[in-house]
Amino acid sequence: MKLIKASDYDELSKIAALLIKEELDNKPALNLGLATGGTPIGTYEELIRLNGEGQIDFSLVKTFNLDEYAGLDAKHPSSYSYYMDNLLFKHINIKKENTHIPSGDAADLQEECRAYDELIESMGGIDLQILGIGTNGHIAFNEPADRLSIGTSVVDLTPSTIMDNSRYFDSIDLVPTTAISMGIGSILKAKKIILLISGQSKRNVLKKLMEIDYLSSQLPASFLLLHDNVILVADMEALGEAI
Ligand code: PGA
Repeated sequence: MKLIKASDYDELSKIAALLIKEELDNKPALNLGLATGGTPIGTYEELIRLNGEGQIDFSLVKTFNLDEYAGLDAKHPSSYSYYMDNLLFKHINIKKENTHIPSGDAADLQEECRAYDELIESMGGIDLQILGIGTNGHIAFNEPADRLSIGTSVVDLTPSTIMDNSRYFDSIDLVPTTAISMGIGSILKAKKIILLISGQSKRNVLKKLMEIDYLSSQLPASFLLLHDNVILVADMEALGEAI
């Protein structure tokens, strides 16, 4: 894992956007894996700025999101579909039909998971995957557990994730307890991964990730050690160091 240190969240966002720009410059028809949550918002703002200035073009890009809450339809304000539309897609020149997010309200969630893996595969796989990390070490919604899924699956959210994500809902009781998530195997198939870690609340998990030298299903992000093209961009608040 290659570490890039950013002085703060703004710099982390600029670095991440430039890394994405570099990939787009090399391959305009990029298959881009996207994440939600608080961390990538600044990166998306930078991408919107670069797109507005004509420095990057999304007209040939296809996107694939990591996860979606089960039971929420795309118009629900707390769904990841709504998040993506409002924080990125509607501000850039991407074609809506080229954006892919699992449907949280699919009648058959298992079938939705199978079809999502098949879709990604049929489109040539993900070239670049953007990832965040949970305070509990999850990547996408692959929560610490005895068993981790290889492909996209329906997962139970842990109390700590429900608590962390309750800030996006009117009350904690409204946070879905299950979600569709790309599996660890789906994530590791991406040709390149950018892992973004920002803020003091991630200091503990970042330290664990930097120290661990074995795979642990209790720290799902440890599986990224199997991948030989991961760039970790972390800010000083997360690293716990002075500049
Ligand atoms: P956050 O979430 O960016 O909101 O901290 C990251 C995650 O849970 O993967």
